[in-house]
Amino acid sequence: MNASVSPLRPAAANPATRPELTDALRATVGARSAAALALLREAVAEFGGKGELVFANSFGAEDMVLTDLILANGLPITIFSLDTGRLPAETYTLIGEVERRYGTRLEIYFPDATAVETYVRSHGINAFYDSVELRKACCGVRKMAPLRRALAGRKAWITGLRAAQSVTRTGLALREFDAGNGLEKLNPLSEWTEAEVWAYIRINEVPYNALHDQFYPSIGCAPCTRAIAVGEDVRAGRWWWEDPSTKECGLHAKEG
Ligand code: ADX
Ligand code: SF4
Repeated sequence: MNASVSPLRPAAANPATRPELTDALRATVGARSAAALALLREAVAEFGGKGELVFANSFGAEDMVLTDLILANGLPITIFSLDTGRLPAETYTLIGEVERRYGTRLEIYFPDATAVETYVRSHGINAFYDSVELRKACCGVRKMAPLRRALAGRKAWITGLRAAQSVTRTGLALREFDAGNGLEKLNPLSEWTEAEVWAYIRINEVPYNALHDQFYPSIGCAPCTRAIAVGEDVRAGRWWWEDPSTKECGLHAKEG
């Protein structure tokens, strides 16, 4: 591991996950939830429901809002998740909690074992720290190839992306055609703020990843995610040793 790569671990309580639930914030979240639910229902009507309309769930805070909207309202939308094999223990704990709470079994996709073995034998177990190319190759094997399998034969997919998360997501539409994967892509939380996401979670008592309380606003694989410091942007802890302009794993790459 690169010597400059050193996760920060702030110890204080995290106010970002506990916004003050003012009447104004409750009203905004109520309106935003109604709009997101309406968009999901329209998608069910348009794309035929279970099997053809899928939600990609990383179990981050935004995805827990969508999980709750879908499962609490009994929407026929298939929920899948990509288990890279390098997720934090807290994420696995949350997956189990979600399955128990909502009485469901989620579709988990794993990377191809031979592809992972080939990558690790060629480059090393933590080769993603060595270069952007090797990091992207790891994401390719552990996330992109499983995503292609998860999206095969679907008509539309739903994500928890928000425009405010990163410079690479500015101007994110509520709905767009995903040319790379050849299907519609819906981002119902595109316009939500981080405080609105957390207000929804608190008001509806939705389970969430314990790492969020430890200053991890954005959670991916364990070795590629660290806590952020006060003032850093919400994705600063993802691939923190890289330049912000390269910090997408390819799941949401723009064509052209
Ligand atoms: S990433 O591209 O940097 O990994 P991020 O963690 O912000 O993405 O998540 C954005 C959206 O991508 C999530 O809301 C979710 O829809 C999808 N996503 C990310 N990681 C996964 C995963 N492991 N499994 C399923 N969906 C995922
Ligand atoms: Fe590999 Fe890191 Fe990408 Fe996970 S986030 S697939 S460990 S490079």
